[in-house]
Amino acid sequence: MVALLNRLLLGLAFTRLASAVPYNTYDGPGFPACHDVARVYEPTTVNEIVSIVKNASASGTPVRASGNGHMWYDTMCSDDPRTVIIRTERVNRIFDLQMGANGRGSVMLEAGATFTQVAEWLHERGASLGFTLVNWNISMAGAIAMGAHRSSLGEDSQVSSAALAFDIVNGKGELVHLDRDQKNTTWLAATTSLGLLGVIARVKFEVLADFKVFANQQILDEDDVLKSDLFAAISPFVTANYWWWPGLKKFHLRTYNPVPITRAGEAFQNTFSVTESEANTAKGLLNSGQNSSIPNFLSESIFFTLWSAPNFRDKRTNSALLLWPVHGWAYDVLIGGLYPDQKPQWDFDLRAYTFEIAVPVTMGTQVLRRVRQLFNEAALSFKPVTSTYRSGINIKFGKPFDSLLGQTTERTGIVKGDWSKGAMMFDFPSFRPNTGDHTRYNEQFYHKLATTLINEFPARPHWTKCTRSVIQQSVKNLDAASLAEFKKVRQQFDPKGIFKSVVGEIIGVM
Ligand SMILES: Cc1cc2nc3c(=O)[nH]c(=O)nc-3n(C[C@H](O)[C@H](O)[C@H](O)COP(=O)(O)OP(=O)(O)OC[C@H]3O[C@@H](n4cnc5c(N)ncnc54)[C@H](O)[C@@H]3O)c2cc1C
Ligand SMILES: *[C@@H]1O[C@H](CO)[C@@H](O)[C@H](O)[C@H]1NC(C)=O
Ligand SMILES: *[C@@H]1O[C@H](CO)[C@@H](O)[C@H](O)[C@H]1NC(C)=O
Ligand SMILES: *[C@@H]1O[C@H](CO)[C@@H](O)[C@H](O)[C@H]1NC(C)=O
Ligand SMILES: *[C@@H]1O[C@H](CO)[C@@H](O)[C@H](O)[C@H]1NC(C)=O
Repeated sequence: MVALLNRLLLGLAFTRLASAVPYNTYDGPGFPACHDVARVYEPTTVNEIVSIVKNASASGTPVRASGNGHMWYDTMCSDDPRTVIIRTERVNRIFDLQMGANGRGSVMLEAGATFTQVAEWLHERGASLGFTLVNWNISMAGAIAMGAHRSSLGEDSQVSSAALAFDIVNGKGELVHLDRDQKNTTWLAATTSLGLLGVIARVKFEVLADFKVFANQQILDEDDVLKSDLFAAISPFVTANYWWWPGLKKFHLRTYNPVPITRAGEAFQNTFSVTESEANTAKGLLNSGQNSSIPNFLSESIFFTLWSAPNFRDKRTNSALLLWPVHGWAYDVLIGGLYPDQKPQWDFDLRAYTFEIAVPVTMGTQVLRRVRQLFNEAALSFKPVTSTYRSGINIKFGKPFDSLLGQTTERTGIVKGDWSKGAMMFDFPSFRPNTGDHTRYNEQFYHKLATTLINEFPARPHWTKCTRSVIQQSVKNLDAASLAEFKKVRQQFDPKGIFKSVVGEIIGVM
């Protein structure tokens, strides 16, 4: 009887372990950021974060911080079902705005404050985030941890480049304060920490006096871009990027620069919101492209036509802006958000895979030409591939910014590359079919493309937009000396390695 009870209890214990739940990305069930986690904490203060980490540290329990789960693959945690998540969403105070006479200032943020929240808070007080942005409702600390960035060769646009100080809860549950010092190895580790030094609990962030910008867009022939000087084309702008439509052999070039603050206009951008009927039409067409290329090329033509008009409304009247250029407040134009009567595409079950790497901008056109060759080869073997994403293939840029694990550092190891003029980022999102095993038309193409670029160029992975396999393949392109320096700092902050992640394991810094 006792033996039987014991067997039953053991069975129960196992069931509890086996039913540890996945922790999902913003895409929801079926899209794990972590496969198995034991518990999700939702603290409301920095002190609570400290005590959760202290407790976890005492028992050697793995911990990861999470903002809004705005990442693409299962690389947030390690594959350890004891892992606990500290969700930072409710620790989101914004305070202590200080503006200097030179139009620069600073603000204090807690871990969970999102770009949207901070931008609105600053705008009400005559300040702005400047150009250190990413494209959505993402926590600023999460973006800082993972080296996220916008697109500029003229201005710093990696989010962490605007950090002036951090309070990090380290692996012993201590709150460690760091001040900006670009010559200090600890600081250079903290500005792309991958969450491996601990929870970024507070950030002192550099801000600018609020300003207005224009956004403009041109259509270019593919041949012209593939032969062009990308540095010359992009560097005159505070923000600029291309969207590539390979089936049509066209590019959109989007550019932004400041205009006088007296300039009329309150344009508001949307990149991800759609109506339900738009979403259903797109979903039907794109799903039918799982086993046939024709609907994919048709979708691309429709997306291209829609994307040629401004994806902007007048914020006051909510009416569509029909002509380029458009003008408005910095954050509204550079990023914007959701239109009030629409939802983000993933809320209508439109999902995507992505793949993003950085290469030196001086090799940019060479990379694009190599991708063109791969598209041509796929077409010649009767399996043509094109862009299946609403805004095409995104080509972004980054001014050099030094951090040990940053995508735009000039540090190189065995694989050389001249990063002194900055980086080009190749970001290839693609529709994830809702049908079958979710593989894309000519699935093999996407893997070959990634492997080819990683093997033939000094490509560095974006830390949340690449699969485990892509990160594994990219390790050879990273600077071993910088990885070793990072590992030393990590060991000081977190000797037991409780903040471990799959990314940290793959790059060998655990
Ligand atoms: C729709 C969309 C648009 C995007 N646009 C861009 C873009 O324009 N440019 C760009 O570079 N990236 C972009 N990204 C990627 C995004 O910036 C990163 O994935 C970012 O890390 C997500 O932040 P999050 O707050 O949602 O964190 P989560 O997804 O919850 O976490 C991401 C990683 O950061 C760690 N982390 C989170 N918070 C903390 C913290 N406080 N302290 C320590 N570690 C922490 C987590 O453990 C995890 O490893 C985009 C992603 C999506 C889904
Ligand atoms: C502290 O850790 C123990 C053991 O891991 C756990 O049982 C307990 O719930 C934790 N306490 C808090 C407040 O998280
Ligand atoms: C932004 O994220 C927060 C927290 O997840 C959510 O409550 C809010 O609705 C989101 N806003 C938009 C515009 O998606
Ligand atoms: C670098 O910064 C850390 C943390 O602030 C500090 O402990 C260390 O002494 C600094 N190192 C140097 C060489 O200044
Ligand atoms: C494509 O083919 C696969 C394998 O035969 C199948 O599972 C899937 O449902 C098909 N997709 C569509 C949209 O018919």
